[in-house]
Amino acid sequence: MNKNKFTILDFKRKKQSGGKITMLTAYDYPMAKLVDSAGIDAVLVGDSLGMTVLGYDSTTSVTMDDMIHHCKAVRRGVQRAFLIGDMPFMSYQASDEDAVRNAGRFVKEAGCDAVKIEGGAEAALRVKAIDGAGIPVLGHIGLTPQSAGKLGGYKVQGRDAGTAKKLLADAASLEKAGCFAVVLECIPALLAKKITEKLSIPTIGIGAGRHCSGQVLVTHDLAGYFDKFTPKFVKKYADISPLIRGAVTEFKKETESGCFPGDEHSF
Ligand code: KIV
Repeated sequence: MNKNKFTILDFKRKKQSGGKITMLTAYDYPMAKLVDSAGIDAVLVGDSLGMTVLGYDSTTSVTMDDMIHHCKAVRRGVQRAFLIGDMPFMSYQASDEDAVRNAGRFVKEAGCDAVKIEGGAEAALRVKAIDGAGIPVLGHIGLTPQSAGKLGGYKVQGRDAGTAKKLLADAASLEKAGCFAVVLECIPALLAKKITEKLSIPTIGIGAGRHCSGQVLVTHDLAGYFDKFTPKFVKKYADISPLIRGAVTEFKKETESGCFPGDEHSF
């Protein structure tokens, strides 16, 4: 094991010391290597894979086999970061037994360190079952894309007093059930601050302001590699799509004109 490996103990340590936890997504070996070598604390193989890589309109079509396939590739590229596999829609909702068996596949077949599931108090029993089987669980509340239909779309959650109170209670239930951290997606920054102060486990924000214990983004968004839509909370640190398109166009031009391959690329 890499002696600098970020472990489950480092999540709480970082929160206690006031350091910020960094988490990014990866779905394949080359991106996993880049993210890990940049020193990011945790890599999430998110079910956002459905949109960013598989071309679906939502995450609900992603299967367990899709997730295991991509987690295995990411595992081969990650040495230091804590690796989390995202449990896809209907892999844990129906029963504790489904939840434990499928969470076990992430660890046993793909070598993940932990799994993530969506949902508040209603998911607490599943968290307890998976954690009870010895598999760490990352919670996820606020805008939970697997239930976007029930939420009426991809909308900011917890804007009024009632829903804010429910999210505070949800976060507390997840901590009590055994989550080692919880993702807060698309909620007002002040509510995220309150939740972060109330919990002893770290919060990882995405569209939840600066007061969370850490931040997660979809790497394809921050690198400008997914350009179908860009949520307001994304900061584009790079714009690689035009670079790739430019390189591809140049290849086509040079191949058609006979400039490529040159002598230096020939044997
Ligand atoms: O699927 C995903 O990538 C996620 C993160 C955005 C938190 O759930």
